[in-house]
Amino acid sequence: MNFSKKAVFSHEKTAFSLKKILCYNERMKIRKILCILLILCALPALVSCAGGPASASNEEDAAWSKPDEDYLTKLSEQNPADEDAETEQKRVGVAMPTKTSERWINDGMNIKAKLETLGYEVDLQYADDDIDLQVSQIESMIRNGVNCLVIASIDSTRLTDVLAQAKAKGIAVIAYDRLLMDTDAVSYYASFDNKAVGTLIGNYIVEKMDLPGATAAKKSYTIEFFMGSPDDNNAVFLYNGVMEALRPYLDNGALICRSGRTKFEETCILRWSEFTAEERCRKLIEEFYPQGDLDIACSAFDGFAYGILTAWEAKLPNAKLPMITGQDAEKPAIRNLANDKMDMTIYKDTRVLASKCVTMVQALLENGEPEINDTTQYDNNVLTVPSYLCDPVVIDKDNYEEILIKGGYYTREQLFQ
Ligand code: BGC
Repeated sequence: MNFSKKAVFSHEKTAFSLKKILCYNERMKIRKILCILLILCALPALVSCAGGPASASNEEDAAWSKPDEDYLTKLSEQNPADEDAETEQKRVGVAMPTKTSERWINDGMNIKAKLETLGYEVDLQYADDDIDLQVSQIESMIRNGVNCLVIASIDSTRLTDVLAQAKAKGIAVIAYDRLLMDTDAVSYYASFDNKAVGTLIGNYIVEKMDLPGATAAKKSYTIEFFMGSPDDNNAVFLYNGVMEALRPYLDNGALICRSGRTKFEETCILRWSEFTAEERCRKLIEEFYPQGDLDIACSAFDGFAYGILTAWEAKLPNAKLPMITGQDAEKPAIRNLANDKMDMTIYKDTRVLASKCVTMVQALLENGEPEINDTTQYDNNVLTVPSYLCDPVVIDKDNYEEILIKGGYYTREQLFQ
């Protein structure tokens, strides 16, 4: 067959065009496949974004804090967070005082996890017990446009200016665990029944030392007090609870405080410092108990209990330990209970407190119903702040297993490994 050059050329051209079309189709096919693959890969990430911030870091938080699922479901039914997700994600600034005590680490993680599960963006900051740092952290939260602030103060009277700034910008404020004093910029207060904490400590001493029996037998026990920080309203409530239970026995001589320091001003320890408690205990031993005959160290905080123990073991390594009380049910405190180095502590379930605080955030941001159970006790010198007070629980060697381990607050491994 003879093909003219033109014909050959035109044939080649057609073949070339066909090849081009085929290549183009192939390329399109490949592109389509690539697109599908790309969408499939990106899908999980897109889904997790849309479903709120229950991300990897939250999974750790959730494992630690075990959020109360029923409660969260109820909340999301009442106030579907999705409505907001469609518009703009609301921001909550959470200002915590310090990481030196375990309880605040738990509090921070619990609140963050619960708020994030509901679709809020959370800025959680710790201030190393430095008041100026806490002020500047709150200022920067305000600058960054938070819609609500949750604050556990270091010094409850030193945030008035920054709280006024928040109020001027219409930012809602919740006092977390510690009441914010001298301000009208606070809407709600979520805490534990702080007086009850003191009453439980006092009553434990009354019962375990059988003070009614001691009174009848004209027997006496020695006692010293290590009370909370003077800049923390909770410390005064706790002191009042302790004294309501113990005052009768100080008065009738069943309890003897050799140092004579029984007033709040004489026994409070600034910033809840473990080291100040240790130092104070050393001095008390040197001055009043060189033979190791202190029967009761009435301490308002697990951190103080560690300081007392350190001082005692350094000064009187062979003497019998006094009864030592505490607050917060921290892991080292539970180990001390198990090893007979401490007698009791107060368990404050930070998961419950975080849940109550979240209802307040929702009330302020989504017109929800906050849970309130006290409208009379917490006067901050400007207003009586509507509060939710959770119940504190006594923990000792006999019940920590039942309440803390079986109750899911700690695993045995977390406590003892
Ligand atoms: C809290 C206690 C805590 C103490 C020291 C108080 O405001 O109510 O639970 O032990 O601060 O951190």
